[in-house]
Amino acid sequence: MAISLGLVGLGQFGGQFVSLFKNHPDVTRMALCDVRRERVAAVAREHEIAECYASLDEMCRSDLDAIAIITQPWLHAEQAMQVMESGKHVYSAVPAAYGPDGDALLEQCDRLVETVRRTGQVYMLGETTIYRRETLFCRRRAAEGAFGPLTYGECEYWHDTDSPTSNLRQVWRNRWGDDWGPDKRGSIPMHYPTHATASMVSIMGAHAESVSALGYHKPGEDWYFADSYWGNPYGNEVALYRMSNGAIVRHCEFRRIGHPERESFRLFGTEASFLSDVSGARWTTREGWEPVDLSGEREPLPASLASDLGGHGGSHAYLVHEFVDACNRQRLPRIHVWEAVRYLAPGIVAHQSALRDGERLPVPDWGDPPEDV
Ligand SMILES: NC(=O)c1ccc[n+]([C@@H]2O[C@H](COP(=O)([O-])OP(=O)(O)OC[C@H]3O[C@@H](n4cnc5c(N)ncnc54)[C@H](O)[C@@H]3O)[C@@H](O)[C@H]2O)c1
Repeated sequence: MAISLGLVGLGQFGGQFVSLFKNHPDVTRMALCDVRRERVAAVAREHEIAECYASLDEMCRSDLDAIAIITQPWLHAEQAMQVMESGKHVYSAVPAAYGPDGDALLEQCDRLVETVRRTGQVYMLGETTIYRRETLFCRRRAAEGAFGPLTYGECEYWHDTDSPTSNLRQVWRNRWGDDWGPDKRGSIPMHYPTHATASMVSIMGAHAESVSALGYHKPGEDWYFADSYWGNPYGNEVALYRMSNGAIVRHCEFRRIGHPERESFRLFGTEASFLSDVSGARWTTREGWEPVDLSGEREPLPASLASDLGGHGGSHAYLVHEFVDACNRQRLPRIHVWEAVRYLAPGIVAHQSALRDGERLPVPDWGDPPEDV
């Protein structure tokens, strides 16, 4: 069995997935698409791909089986629904939905879940954290019961606005293109929560039930303003969740921090804990601690993808394989839509709480996947 697949969005991130999808043994036909024709032409030439489309609308009218969407974040939800309505499976870059209005994003989550349910198409979120070695290790140890009951977690996505490796001022100017303007400065840290929350939800097998959060406004701030398109004064936001398994999770989304970029977590159980910082990873018990060697932490992959796993902690190859395999076997992918909204909704409500100076608010949940999916 094999599928045909189109990749939409050949910008900074999408370009990193072309050879992985093309080299997957179960992808027999691959197509490319971007509204910026020069990007399509360059990638098509480099990877020797002949089938190209000028827009997502055009690609949706094709007979491709599946489409991967790696476009600007505020396009993901509507485009994913468009793809499923056109009778195709869809892979979406994170987050599942994005924009300035939290209530509108929760409503998009509702419609995404409903569209997956009604159309029966495969929907998968491309959350890289799920396949980082730290996450693989802790998911395995948690399944073995090595932590004991999980009591507390700390998760974070730290990406300073002036990062020397990925300067957010440039990233956002590039994403807005001709629509860029001074009113677009900023963004909402907690509306991009998935690199942090995914680890907790996935390892604990639990979801956030309520949240209280606070925001930090830097003195002399020149990027995050209340009177902007985003309506957000906070460069840093910190949330505290009560999880459905009784655990407590602290979540930090920092865009103002003197620290290298970091997507990571620490996890505490009654019997053992996992620590991780710039100096490495450690496994601790009451008796002491030992370093954790994550280099052997792997899951099965086709041989053609196994030698170069790609970026973000070697997660890209796993994401590609999981999606292609789920489409081929018509099965639920690991990061299905019910899981995807559990990574996003906590951050959206956390921002609403931060704007109300920490008022504790309930986090909506769309449940586990129905048994007949
Ligand atoms: N670790 C991660 O998971 C991770 C890392 C980086 C980026 N991302 C996500 O990847 C996405 C893409 O980021 P980027 O930096 O590559 O953005 P980008 O702006 O560089 O690229 C987006 C591309 O999509 C194209 N596009 C938009 N609408 C289209 C349409 N209707 N039809 C065809 N093409 C269309 C644009 O022309 C552009 O080339 C973002 O949503 C971001 O959140 C995730």
